[in-house]
Amino acid sequence: MKSIQFVVNGKECTVLCPPAKPLLDVLREDLGLTASKECCGKGECGSCSVLINNEVVCSCLILTGQVENQKITTCEGVGLSPNLDVIQESFIAEGATQCGYCTPGIIVSAKAFLDGIDHVPSVGEIKTALGGNLCRCTGYTKIIKAVQTAASKKRSETETIG
Ligand code: FES
Ligand code: FES
Repeated sequence: MKSIQFVVNGKECTVLCPPAKPLLDVLREDLGLTASKECCGKGECGSCSVLINNEVVCSCLILTGQVENQKITTCEGVGLSPNLDVIQESFIAEGATQCGYCTPGIIVSAKAFLDGIDHVPSVGEIKTALGGNLCRCTGYTKIIKAVQTAASKKRSETETIG
């Protein structure tokens, strides 16, 4: 067991756990952050996606000892009702919140993607950006529309402020 410190969603945390415990398990079991889900458990589906220092990673593959002193963002940190991020609002508006397994990881990946661009992305760009997040049942049409809607809203907010 080791005491490991890191920042999750802007809050400093200390957990006592084996350093090899997957970050996903620490988030869900030790910290009660259950948005990130385990589906494949081997880095193939993206349902466990979180940001480490603004980079999308599969938390099922990250050992907690690796995140000492790092900044982690989960879907809860993107936004929680009633203070949702524009991405989450757009997913609701477009009917893209398809299920609780894939959606949190997709939101996290979309957040990282949209924070890194300043234009409304093409369908191809969105498919590439969300390529690590799988939906095994419904499809991606509404998800792609929601990301474009969020990008449009972000652009109009920026233009209004500017
Ligand atoms: S559960 Fe981590 S990638 Fe599938
Ligand atoms: S896996 Fe979530 S809607 Fe298909």
